[in-house]
Amino acid sequence: METTLIILKPDAVQRGLIGAITSRFEQKGLQVVGMKLMRISQELAAEHYKDHAGKPFYAGLVRFMTSEPVVVLALRGMGAIGVCRNLMGATFGSKAAAGTIRGDFGISNSFNLVHGSDSPEAAARELALFFKQGEVLDGKRAIDQWVYDHSGGKPE
Ligand code: RTP
Ligand code: MG
Repeated sequence: METTLIILKPDAVQRGLIGAITSRFEQKGLQVVGMKLMRISQELAAEHYKDHAGKPFYAGLVRFMTSEPVVVLALRGMGAIGVCRNLMGATFGSKAAAGTIRGDFGISNSFNLVHGSDSPEAAARELALFFKQGEVLDGKRAIDQWVYDHSGGKPE
């Protein structure tokens, strides 16, 4: 089981898409183990996006991500990091495939609705940045006996 960090970006919140986008992840079978509305500070944006510092889009990205509140989600599931990236679609809304979140809900390239961790290392780093100890609650979920096949002793 993996846990990944998802951010519903300011455009998703302003456009009233918190429920619709969160539903995509829930309908897939991912478990919401952390969730909060928050405003990202300059410092947190700089830390989160430190790998992009110096790129042409960096200043605009930080301005966008700190402009209005976001919803941060910790999502848990088998292969959650890759599964979420597939559900999100390609980075640019204009190119993202239909059926994906970015493909279905947006047409802008930089206002692309969601962020998702792209590796286990990134997920661990980003979850620690956005959630304090005790804010991720990964208890058992009643529906998991039907979301996964447990007949072999572990979820499949
Ligand atoms: P994210 O980190 O938000 O999940 O998106 P990603 O992995 O698909 O894309 P990444 O390359 O990490 O870029 C981070 C965010 O920067 C904005 N961006 N704008 N205008 C541009 O050329 C450009 N390139 C990237 C997007 O908001 C992208 O999600
Ligand atoms: Mg990225």
